[in-house]
Amino acid sequence: MDKVKVGVIGTGIGSFHIRAYQKLPDVEVVAVVDLDPKRAKQIAQQYNIPRYFIDYSRLLKLDIDAVSVCTPNFLHSEMTLAALKAGKHVLCEKPMAINAQDAEEMVKVARETGKKLMIAFCNRFRNHPQLLKRYIEDGELGEIYYAKTRWLRRKGIPGMGGWFTTKAMSGGGPLIDLGVHVLDLMLWLMGNPRAVSVTGVTYNKFGSRIPLKEGTFDVEDLACAFIRLEMGTSLFLEVSWASHIKEDAGIHLSLFGTKGGAELWPLRIYTEKHGCFVDVEPRLEEVSGYEAEIAHFVDCIVEDKEPMATPEQGLEVTRILDAIYSSAETGREVVL
Ligand SMILES: NC(=O)c1ccc[n+]([C@@H]2O[C@H](COP(=O)([O-])OP(=O)(O)OC[C@H]3O[C@@H](n4cnc5c(N)ncnc54)[C@H](O)[C@@H]3O)[C@@H](O)[C@H]2O)c1
Repeated sequence: MDKVKVGVIGTGIGSFHIRAYQKLPDVEVVAVVDLDPKRAKQIAQQYNIPRYFIDYSRLLKLDIDAVSVCTPNFLHSEMTLAALKAGKHVLCEKPMAINAQDAEEMVKVARETGKKLMIAFCNRFRNHPQLLKRYIEDGELGEIYYAKTRWLRRKGIPGMGGWFTTKAMSGGGPLIDLGVHVLDLMLWLMGNPRAVSVTGVTYNKFGSRIPLKEGTFDVEDLACAFIRLEMGTSLFLEVSWASHIKEDAGIHLSLFGTKGGAELWPLRIYTEKHGCFVDVEPRLEEVSGYEAEIAHFVDCIVEDKEPMATPEQGLEVTRILDAIYSSAETGREVVL
């Protein structure tokens, strides 16, 4: 196969995609798109990309293999559908869409066109969860029956007043922004069980009282949820962009299995051997999730393989997020 030709739409996190593609010898970034013409031009110059546009439909007319969709959440579905229909493979940033209805359409069109649609769940591709997945698949934790995850920030509201904090453009606050990552990681580690019911609560205690110079803040700043999964397993999740805690804490996961438990980050395994408690602390270098994710996406195109973060899995995560928001609104459990 000749070089894989790609285009990148959106140049915030999109610039990470560009750098990761450019590290791969068999890939050429042929064009970049941003609504902000100065930004589009500056990124094209900075990364030596031959063409830039402000209208993504012009990118889709080029003879390219794939696009990265790296725009605000509400544009993911529209741009992904257009790219798939134009015959391009798509790497779509998280969250897959701002609601399950849009995500369903994306799955349908991906399967109809036969083009690859991978959701950019970059954390799956980091070394520690990759190794944990191997422990789990080898049965070393036994049956996992309970899990909990959190990603709490003390002070980390992104783009105050902008698209991140405007529900119509983001779909929600930290739940859809951070929760999508940890929920995906958990489901993937647990073997992608389906959710059967959800109880969720959301709060807006900081965003609503910080004076805005301009824009909107109509999303939550903290959310928690209890999710019952098939086969009697369950998952507890909490996320915040702002809260009175000691400091911003990154992703935390705990899995409870019949033969062992595990925590991330870093990876620790807690088990028993010969009548003793044993703690395992694997020595691992961190790798960039973005680089590993993009190398995998390109490999799937070259080798014609199914990406390991499938659109169906992205849809399931979106379905659960919708149910958490719905439960928070009604104050009732949502049965899925
Ligand atoms: N995987 C991760 O860890 C990760 C990290 C950050 C962001 N993201 C996701 O990436 C997406 C973008 O986030 P960001 O932080 O880069 O946001 P951002 O606001 O920094 O950048 C978005 C860019 O898209 C451009 N844009 C907006 N509308 C456009 C349009 N119609 N056509 C072309 N360009 C358009 C904007 O001008 C801007 O440059 C979001 O969905 C976010 O959730 C993922």
